Amino acid sequence: MSIYLDNAATSYPKPDLVADSVYHFMKHIGVSVGRGSYNRAQKAGEIVYETRKLLCQLFNHSNPEHVVFMSNVTEAINLAIRGIVTPGGHVITSSIEHNAVWRCLKMLERDYSIQISPVLCDSSGTTDPETIQGLIRPNTQLIVFTHASNVLGTIQPIRQSGTIARRNSIPFLVDSAQTAGAYPIDMQADCIDILAFTGHKSLLGPMGTGGLVVKDEGMIRPQKAGGTGRDSFSPYQPEYLPDCLEAGTFNGSGIAGLGAAVKYILGETVQAIRNKEQQLTDYALKQLKCLDKVILYGPGNPEKMVGVISFNVSNIPAVEIAYALDEVYGIMVRAGLHCAPTAHRIIGTEQVGTVRISLGYFNQEKDIDLLVAALSEILSKV
Ligand SMILES: Cc1ncc(COP(=O)(O)O)c(C=O)c1O
Repeated sequence: MSIYLDNAATSYPKPDLVADSVYHFMKHIGVSVGRGSYNRAQKAGEIVYETRKLLCQLFNHSNPEHVVFMSNVTEAINLAIRGIVTPGGHVITSSIEHNAVWRCLKMLERDYSIQISPVLCDSSGTTDPETIQGLIRPNTQLIVFTHASNVLGTIQPIRQSGTIARRNSIPFLVDSAQTAGAYPIDMQADCIDILAFTGHKSLLGPMGTGGLVVKDEGMIRPQKAGGTGRDSFSPYQPEYLPDCLEAGTFNGSGIAGLGAAVKYILGETVQAIRNKEQQLTDYALKQLKCLDKVILYGPGNPEKMVGVISFNVSNIPAVEIAYALDEVYGIMVRAGLHCAPTAHRIIGTEQVGTVRISLGYFNQEKDIDLLVAALSEILSKV
């Protein structure tokens, strides 16, 4: 028996239709997207376009041409930041970013003298959006926030931050890695200019899929150049979306799988998924709180977080707990810094890391019961 509690890394299992659609594309379509005029190439193009439409529906965006496919949210964030920020520019970000944002900004700081202002948050990872206004400078070119912390689970005040960004005409980029598909995102109401998504986490799609949804043409300078299947005589990358940000052969089978996953989510409804994950988080927090030597981090309130819970057990190193849970009990959790060092600075765990469980739509209360029983047994021996 095995129990998977590492959905923040990648979701597992996926709905059956996702694998079926990947297989169907490989077996029965199998041709390059947007490159040929034969029937099958048209069909491949339709599948990709359908996925663009479904993502628009999910995120309330009106133009499928503004959905740009890439291999994951890391690539999407890097291309968006590098395509907006110029040398000497200023960027405002949260204090709990994943390295997908943080390292990208730090490298631009080192190599191109950009300035970074992290917005302070409290020890639960909660940010006061009003702080953002005071950090804006004449050279502020971007505000970039993760939607939910992959260490603490804390949901960030995206709508309020987006409103401030819009009021000041500064592009607002959101990293939706931990929320897309599992928490409502409305690009219009949330004032999001650029939404970066990854297909394989709460969107329930295949690895190797992700991208951006971009509000307007011209917001991001192209960072890649190559074949797009159109305007081939032009020596430069086209300026229109999505071609200005897409170059090279598509992950057709992955995008077919992602389309099936988004269709599944729309069928279940994001709200139903959110409700189930919130209930499971509530249950897990209550059960873990009953264990004496467990130190919990984060808001501790399921309404303010996604299904990501970090903790430490007594003074046992996090990696030892994760190893014992896997080896003895078949429970898969993550231990360490979770690629987000700044979040660990907030909670003082930069030396030891944390044990992280992350719940998905297909987990059940009994998975948490087994985790808690295993932790009790481990604790009884120390
Ligand atoms: C908040 C956040 N941003 C970015 C990423 C990177 O995701 P990917 O590896 O799919 O690019 C992750 C993954 O752990 C994440 O949790």
